[in-house]
Amino acid sequence: MHTGIFLGTAASWIATVAAASVNLHRKATAATGTAGCGMTHWFNGITQYYGLESGGVDRSYSIHVPSDYNETKPYPLVFGFHGSSSIGLFFEADTGLSESKYSADKIMLYPNGLGGAWAGANYSEASVPEDLGFVSDLLAEVRANYCIDDSRIYATGMSIGGGFVDTIACSEVGGEFAAFAAGSGSFYTDDSGVSGCTPVRSPMPMLEIHGGSDPDVHYEGGPGEGGMEPAIPDWLSWWAQRNNCPNQTMENLYNGDVQHYVWECNGVGGVLQHWKVDDMGHCWASTTLDFSEIAAGQGPTPIDASTIVMNFFDQFTKP
Ligand SMILES: *[C@@H]1O[C@H](CO)[C@@H](O)[C@H](O)[C@H]1NC(C)=O
Ligand SMILES: *[C@@H]1O[C@H](CO)[C@@H](O)[C@H](O)[C@H]1NC(C)=O
Ligand SMILES: *[C@@H]1O[C@H](CO)[C@@H](O)[C@H](O)[C@H]1NC(C)=O
Repeated sequence: MHTGIFLGTAASWIATVAAASVNLHRKATAATGTAGCGMTHWFNGITQYYGLESGGVDRSYSIHVPSDYNETKPYPLVFGFHGSSSIGLFFEADTGLSESKYSADKIMLYPNGLGGAWAGANYSEASVPEDLGFVSDLLAEVRANYCIDDSRIYATGMSIGGGFVDTIACSEVGGEFAAFAAGSGSFYTDDSGVSGCTPVRSPMPMLEIHGGSDPDVHYEGGPGEGGMEPAIPDWLSWWAQRNNCPNQTMENLYNGDVQHYVWECNGVGGVLQHWKVDDMGHCWASTTLDFSEIAAGQGPTPIDASTIVMNFFDQFTKP
């Protein structure tokens, strides 16, 4: 349940006033957009922080709309889920996903997990139904307040946030999304084989980027910080079956350090993709040094996850 009550900082109080004035500025709803089309927003281009009650619990998120936001034009919406012991604002800063080179024409939404994590790990504060309910409530909130292209809603995330992206893809609310992408994902809720997940649609576009030298979420799987994790090749093979992708090709890049796997699913190429970076640790891949790479004690990587993920999303529209 969402209340539309905005809690927290002075910035969000200003946003509350802005939101309250929104109905006064309501114009005709664009043909293909959501109910929020026609609502005026202030401080576009500046990330804003909001509270949202979900399942009786106070939750929060931040949102970034393009600086030249056009209130009658339906925009793609991208959810970005942070890793453990983090918040959405850190994920936003680390990935750079609110920069116009990635999202000049998209609305970015960064939800905050309870206790700095997402459902699925044995240390998670929220249950899977609670966090999936939060996703549903966020969708309702954003659709009601912003002009969203309902056929172009996406989710990406890092580490446990990447694992939660997979949890969404395997759930009913996952049917609302056009494509998913995980970086260094810990797939706690999808570790039991092809039947461990029943997406509401097939194929469900999925991309994963993982370090072959990840010391936290091992490429080979096994016990992770929050429970058992599948080997990445096994997890990919399950998605290949769910998505009906019999054909796979692999391209060696950057002197063999990077392997790009592409599956053809139901005759459509690229619906399932994987990038393995052999000497990469647990981080968000970036060609310019980001905080997660510093934390992982490594330098920049030859590939840029934010570019790859946004280009992947651009290829898919929800049928
Ligand atoms: C805003 O978007 C609408 C719908 O796509 C379009 O018709 C209009 O020209 C746009 N306005 C501006 C100022 O770009
Ligand atoms: C969570 O799972 C991991 C790996 O299976 C295990 O080592 C750890 O003790 C578990 N933690 C809790 C709190 O159950
Ligand atoms: C994909 O695999 C099928 C079955 O193995 C084969 O018949 C088909 O020719 C393959 N397609 C491509 C494009 O390789």
